[in-house]
Amino acid sequence: MDLSDRIVVLTGAGISADSGVPTFRDSGGIWAKYHYRDVATPEGFAANPNLLHEFYNLRRAGLPTVQPNPAHDALAQLAQAKREAGGCLTLVTQNVDDLHERGGSKSVWHMHGELTKARCTSCGTVREWADALSVTVSCPDCAERGTLRPHIVWFGEVPMLMEEIAEAVAEADLFVSIGTSGSVYPAAGFVGEAKSLGIPCMEINLEPSENAHLFDEAFYGPAAEQVPVFVGRLMSAVSR
Ligand code: OAD
Repeated sequence: MDLSDRIVVLTGAGISADSGVPTFRDSGGIWAKYHYRDVATPEGFAANPNLLHEFYNLRRAGLPTVQPNPAHDALAQLAQAKREAGGCLTLVTQNVDDLHERGGSKSVWHMHGELTKARCTSCGTVREWADALSVTVSCPDCAERGTLRPHIVWFGEVPMLMEEIAEAVAEADLFVSIGTSGSVYPAAGFVGEAKSLGIPCMEINLEPSENAHLFDEAFYGPAAEQVPVFVGRLMSAVSR
């Protein structure tokens, strides 16, 4: 690999686990406490918007209590080094937290949306949102009441930036998946797309993911340990 190459990195909940953010499917994870239909579907929002707002309000309010870990930091450093060398690291995340940004990443493609933003279902405006949302809050742009929703992709909705991601994957020299179980599509399909194009694929995860067999190389252990090692190896191979 060369720093002037193009890497696509896909991250999932596992990269934020070492910061204390719960994953979804590990034991005691979010889906052990909530049913995804209630809090992560348009139908759930229509049926009980209060429950859904409470779910995301809690997670949004928890953001200041967690900090980026060495895995977030290392990816930001690698992206910077690649930028300086004329290369490119496209950071695609399924995570809705802001730990990549706070770890120093300048460009983060949040394919499942962002906890720190709200979207108006009436006027369509997306804006930064730090406070609690509720059915009584009015949209600051169109003044409609109760139309703001978390800027989050729910099951049954199309993830964001799909065309851009497909293009970046197709042009990549390396595809790296970090901290994701590989069980939610379309993100879980990126490795298959990269592999079919002959692009080397690498997995860093606590344990083999559901599509572990598709990766050419894998490193298992906590992301906060494994990602800095991977980044260090890449940088030192380049500087030799
Ligand atoms: P999951 O909870 O499905 O998977 C987390 C993965 O991280 C598992 O494979 C764990 O083994 C791994 N893991 C746990 N701790 C780790 C650590 N310290 N270091 C490295 N890896 C660790 O989370 P995602 O794959 O991100 O979507 O889930 C994908 C999507 O499913 C989410 O974006 C969310 C969810 O439903 C929506 O809500 C639309």
